[in-house]
Amino acid sequence: MRTQYSAANWKMNLSLTEGEDLIKEILSIKKLTAAHHQIIFAVPFPLLLPMMKLVEGYDRVAIAAQNCHQKLKGAFTGETSAALLASIGIKYVIIGHSERRQYFAETNDLLKEKIDLALSQNITPIFCCGEPLDVRTKQGQNEFVATQLKESLFHLTPENMAKIIIAYEPIWAIGTGQTASTAQAQEMHQFIRQTISVAYTSALAKEISILYGGSVKADTAQELFSCPDVDGGLVGGASLISKDFSQIIAALK
Ligand code: PGA
Repeated sequence: MRTQYSAANWKMNLSLTEGEDLIKEILSIKKLTAAHHQIIFAVPFPLLLPMMKLVEGYDRVAIAAQNCHQKLKGAFTGETSAALLASIGIKYVIIGHSERRQYFAETNDLLKEKIDLALSQNITPIFCCGEPLDVRTKQGQNEFVATQLKESLFHLTPENMAKIIIAYEPIWAIGTGQTASTAQAQEMHQFIRQTISVAYTSALAKEISILYGGSVKADTAQELFSCPDVDGGLVGGASLISKDFSQIIAALK
């Protein structure tokens, strides 16, 4: 079975003590994960090291960064590179979240560079894709997402492609409370897998975990995660409440 992920995206939320309290509460759950489950907390940069300390010794719990720069080092005041993340032991990084694309003008080409650098540092990218509302309204979502995959990922060797985690996050569902229906999620996840199998092989496409993101809540997670091509979720708002996020973890296949 493919690895099933429950990935929290804290965005620019929670203080050091709030973050510590939340992770401690989640870790106190007795039967946290099955062998094919992985919990990830993507936290703001200043919280990476203290949160890593908290999850030390938990094999299936990891801390992720929410972004990295497209260069490995240099005169880029205020930025953080994949090399820096690797130097503190980070194993996952979110690349291409729609908020980065929207507010920081990140393009498919730029994200391609970030993907390459993360992989070069042995960091697994969680690559976000997904269409805005106007594209969905015109039924252009498949073409839109296929272009994102093609322009940022399909230059990768099969070996590197197999390391990628994909998160499908329809922009109209992020932070809006409006989740994609299970039919919409399954349809797109199947399309993404199909697109990968055409670009690579169906065996490789079957290996890749594809997470759903966009207003995943404690009461919608089970149905979404039960879709055959949905391998867990990337969760914003609901990951900030320990009770909700623990229910989302419990909903993993
Ligand atoms: P949301 O955010 O769950 O609050 O919609 C998801 C995300 O942006 O990753």
